[in-house]
Amino acid sequence: MDLTGTRALPLALALSLLATPLRSAAPDPAPNPLPHFESRGGRHALVVDGAPFLILGGQCNNSSAWASTLPGVWSAVDRMGANTLEAPVYWEQFEPDQGHFDTTLVDMLVRQAREHRVRLVLLWFGTWKNGSSHYVPAWVKSNPAICPKVIGKNGAPVDSPSPHSAAALEADSRAFAALMRHLKASDAAHTVIMVQVENESGAWNSVRDYSAAAQALFEKPVPKDLLVALGLAGKRRGDWAEVFGKDADEYFHAWSVARFVGQVAAAGKSEYDLPMYTNAALRDPIAPGPAGTYESGGPTDNVLGIWKAAAPALDALAPDIYLPESAKYRRVLELYSRPDNPLLVPENGGSPAFARMFFAALAKGAVGWAPFGIDRASDGYVPMTGARPDDDPLAAVALNYHMVGPIAREVARLNYEGRVQAVAEESPERTATLPFGRWRAVVTYGVPAFGAGREPKGNPDEDGRAVVAQLGDNEFLVTGHLCRVDFLPSDPASKEQREYLRVEEGAYYNGTFRASRIWNGDQTDWGLNFGRTPVALRVRLGTY
Ligand code: DGJ
Repeated sequence: MDLTGTRALPLALALSLLATPLRSAAPDPAPNPLPHFESRGGRHALVVDGAPFLILGGQCNNSSAWASTLPGVWSAVDRMGANTLEAPVYWEQFEPDQGHFDTTLVDMLVRQAREHRVRLVLLWFGTWKNGSSHYVPAWVKSNPAICPKVIGKNGAPVDSPSPHSAAALEADSRAFAALMRHLKASDAAHTVIMVQVENESGAWNSVRDYSAAAQALFEKPVPKDLLVALGLAGKRRGDWAEVFGKDADEYFHAWSVARFVGQVAAAGKSEYDLPMYTNAALRDPIAPGPAGTYESGGPTDNVLGIWKAAAPALDALAPDIYLPESAKYRRVLELYSRPDNPLLVPENGGSPAFARMFFAALAKGAVGWAPFGIDRASDGYVPMTGARPDDDPLAAVALNYHMVGPIAREVARLNYEGRVQAVAEESPERTATLPFGRWRAVVTYGVPAFGAGREPKGNPDEDGRAVVAQLGDNEFLVTGHLCRVDFLPSDPASKEQREYLRVEEGAYYNGTFRASRIWNGDQTDWGLNFGRTPVALRVRLGTY
């Protein structure tokens, strides 16, 4: 497997890439509107440079945001056609001595991202990283009074930070605020479009902290704010066990962790109001099992309401999805796309099964999507969780990004308006029908390039995929891979027949579609046949 980015792309793909702009270029360092989230009618947009933006992302490995490893990261980013890199900022590096901040790495990330014309999502590896606190600086680690561990039910410490330390909250908030202050001062171009606050917070190996300090809080009345937010005010009162019964331990930890993370986020936002989210290590979305069998206290699906109440400074609670089964993946998307929560999938596993789920996320209105571990972290290391040693995990994601890249801004805008549908082949279905008002787009997999009325057989590798976005009543953007997309009147009784008035292959350049050729004849007589080379079409329909 070659993840250095040096492997040649198929010639046709390489040529098409030369011809199409895959990224919105990061603007020159000049004042422009602050990135932010917008919500309307239960849908959400991440607005960057004043317009909805779709993160076609990739996350580097944990120890890869260093000068020695970034070349491998950028070659992976370039090869994928990603428009955004998600990269960590390490508290231990950022504040090696208390009160002394080292901006070398973050400055280098911003500078190199601009050179590569991609945006950044920075991941604040602060008090929590995967339920532990391994990224706190040595001066914190060696002073347990600042960042005490969770105490398990048996009285032994657990490798997870307690959320009940005022000193840890103060130290983390101060460092994070310094990072945001520095970004505000140094990144007028908004190369950094969003920040993740902490990483997969919560605790493994204990449902909550059972220290004396935590126990005292546990025995206090549940805060009124939380009861109000959960619709329990006036219905229930008492301490955590009285109000929440068997869920009390887990809910208490979720509230405590969320309050901490929310306050760190608020401290950062008060310096520089960029979009912020935190990520979740998931529980099984269909058969979760009891608390304690998954990481406890993070924004798992059962405590999203608690997190929303406790951490209003976070714009999104985002699932890291390493569940390749389609039903589970789709269930996670449902659970995390809510009127009060923009859907963002900042980490995905690396097998081709995950690349297929990009389309399911897009169809649910996702503002961003990224596989984890895109670079080779060390020789012999199998990157991208879920990938097999002989997989080429970047290829499947690169294909997605090269399909959507040339129309990504329009897809983001239209998705915010609820006018995008996206599908990927999944047996036993060989046909997908996508309703768009008076039209339906019919996607078929495994039909011959010529002729109508043939039963779709599916592709041998089940790798067909399509995105259809409605520009106007009779106008669409379409991109696909190994499929046919045809448009038919929605009403099956209609005598009207579809006419392709104009089908243009092209891409958007600074908001304007430029056609490189017009499709007609064999290219449209039987529908729009998409082969292996990613292309985007603008389609105008009429009837006869
Ligand atoms: C999820 C974490 O958020 C990442 O930082 C990384 O540790 C991956 N797990 C590894 O699979």
